[in-house]
Amino acid sequence: MITYSHIPELRSALNASREKKKTIALVPTMGYLHDGHLSLVKKAKSENDVVVVSIFVNPSQFGPNEDFVRYPRNIERDTELANHAGCDILFNPSVEEMYPAGFSSYAVVEDISTVLEGKFRPTHFKGVTTVVLKLLNIVQPRIAYFGQKDAQQCVVISKMVNDLNLQSEISIVPTMREMDGLAMSSRNVYLNSEERKNAVVLNQSLQLAEKLIRNGERNPALIINEMMNMILSKNPTSIDYIEIVGSNDLEKKNTIENDETILIPLAVRFGATRLIDNIIIHV
Ligand code: PAJ
Repeated sequence: MITYSHIPELRSALNASREKKKTIALVPTMGYLHDGHLSLVKKAKSENDVVVVSIFVNPSQFGPNEDFVRYPRNIERDTELANHAGCDILFNPSVEEMYPAGFSSYAVVEDISTVLEGKFRPTHFKGVTTVVLKLLNIVQPRIAYFGQKDAQQCVVISKMVNDLNLQSEISIVPTMREMDGLAMSSRNVYLNSEERKNAVVLNQSLQLAEKLIRNGERNPALIINEMMNMILSKNPTSIDYIEIVGSNDLEKKNTIENDETILIPLAVRFGATRLIDNIIIHV
C-alpha cells in the first residue's frame, strides 16, 4: 500500500494503473476506521484491481458548533487497518490540499439535502457533495462505495452522480453492527458506558418498526409513536427525528403501501453524542 497526500502524485499513479487496464475503486472516509469502513474496502477489493481509500476529515461538512476539531483521528492505526483490508492506495490530503486559499466552488443537491439530516445540519450535505465530487474527479473510479448507515448521504450522492452525469457507479454496502446491534460509527467512542448501553435501543426500535409492518401495520404515525416510546425509555437527550419516507425520494409517507420500499431514518442524542441509524424495508 502506498500513501499519497498530494493530488498530482495520486493522479499519475492512477493514470499508470489505468494504462495497464486496471479497474479502480474509491472508498471515501473520514478515518478512525472500524469494521463498517473495512467492509466497504473488502467489497471494493473483491470487485476491482486497485482500491483507493481516502481519509480526510472534511471541514466543510461540519457545522460551526459541531465536532470537526475533536473528531477522532488516528492515521497510524488507520494505515495498518486499511492495508490489511486490501487497500492499495491511501489518499490522506491536508485541508490546504483540498481547499486551497481562495476556494469558492461547491456542489449542491437541492430539496433532498434539506430534509431529515438537512433540517438539523443545514450546510452538511453541501460539504459532503462538494468533497465527494472532488474525490470522484480526482480518482475517477469505476465504482465508489458508500455505507447504508448514512442512508440520506447515499441518496444525495446518487442523485448528484445522476444529475451531473458522473461516470462512476455508486455501490451501497449494508450497515455493519456491533454484537448487540448498535451501528458501528467513529462517533461511538464519545459514548460513556451508560450511553453506550442505552444506544442499543436505536436498532431495537428499528426492529420493532419492521415487526409492526410485517404484522400488517400501515400507519406511519402509529409506528413512529411506538418507536419514540421505546427510545424515550432509555433517556436520550433528544430525538431529532424519526420518519418513514420513500427510499429514493425521501418523501414522508402518509400510509405504507404493499410492495413499496420504505426507509426509516432516525437521529437521536445520548449525552452530547448524536447518533443516526436507519432500516430499509421492502413491504
Ligand atoms: P465516514 O463517516 O468516515 O464514513 C465513510 C463511509 O463508511 C461512508 O460511506 C459510511 O456510510 C460508511 N460507514 C460508516 N459506518 C458504517 C457501518 N457501520 N457500516 C457500513 N458502512 C459504514 O461518511 C463519511 O465519512 C463522509 O461523509 C464522506 C462520505 C467520507 C465525505 O466526507
